[in-house]
Amino acid sequence: MSDTVRIVEVGPRDGLQNEKTPISVEARIAFVKALVGAGLSTVEVGSFVSPKAVPQMTGSDEVLRAVQHLPAEFHVLVPNEKGYEAARAAGAKVIAVFASASEGFSRANINCSVAESVERFKPVITRATADGIKVRGYVSCVLGCPYDGAVDPQSVVDVTTLLWDLGCYEISLGDTIGVGTPKKVRELLRACAEAVPMHSLAMHFHDTYGQALANIYAGLEEGARVIDSAAGGLGGCPYAPGASGNVATEDVVYMLNGLGVTSGVDLERLVAASNAIAAEIGRPAPSRVTAALNAK
Ligand code: HMG
Ligand code: MG
Repeated sequence: MSDTVRIVEVGPRDGLQNEKTPISVEARIAFVKALVGAGLSTVEVGSFVSPKAVPQMTGSDEVLRAVQHLPAEFHVLVPNEKGYEAARAAGAKVIAVFASASEGFSRANINCSVAESVERFKPVITRATADGIKVRGYVSCVLGCPYDGAVDPQSVVDVTTLLWDLGCYEISLGDTIGVGTPKKVRELLRACAEAVPMHSLAMHFHDTYGQALANIYAGLEEGARVIDSAAGGLGGCPYAPGASGNVATEDVVYMLNGLGVTSGVDLERLVAASNAIAAEIGRPAPSRVTAALNAK
């Protein structure tokens, strides 16, 4: 396995959206700058959602404005037209809409059914396309839902296909509660790749059950080449009780380095970025690689 992957760093959004300690806009900007300095070329920096739902992401417009000039692609989450307008006003060039493969999570997360969410995204995607803004699509709960339990892979394929047909350039498959295992990941990727090219599918795996790296390895063997991860392994979703953070970017980079797969990320600078944000939060980053390198 000797080639290249693209990492979508989601730490400043997925990593921080669930933190009880409020992280200042200044610290979030410094975090993004450090990540770009470590070689991350795609960074999700915030979300334009209801501040009542996720107060941690307030000020995402300031974060985006402060980093736009840097040499990287910045993403922000947008749930509806109101969020789209705010993201566009802040200069967003790439937005991400987020749907769920399960009804229970859709209702808890964005207060509507899966079908209603897709209807909401239609005008967002149409307007973004007309404005020259790229749209990424997320599908959550692809391997299990905190409310509905097991999720039928066909529901994942259906929502993935809907978002792709609406014009999303890439679909990120979210194991929101980290329950997946490699065999299921392989089967799911194969099924989704019938509808969307494998290179346009991203693996967005939370590490709740410690399976994320194994799942990514299985996905790489299937031909997937886009990995979402969060520096330090921070995070979780406020609407997925008990779910822990995304797989840590440094753990992914360490594995990729060992495999001879290029990610463009400087591990040492990434660990420094994780340590700095962990200091802001007030506890060590969960990443195993960062813990090991800090102990050296
Ligand atoms: P709602 O209550 O149904 O919306 O929430 P509404 O349209 O009735 O509006 C209610 C209030 O929110 C109004 O304000 C609106 O103006 C305001 P009020 O009149 O009460 O003062 N509002 C907004 N404010 C700012 N920006 C907006 C916006 N929209 C409405 N865009 C809504 C529906 C979607 C807005 C809400 O449920 C929400 O914001 N949810 C966001 C949830 C979220 O951010 N979850 C975490 C991200 S998803 C995730 O982590 C999973 C992922 O990582 C993949 C994976 O791991 O699986 C992506
Ligand atoms: Mg997530």
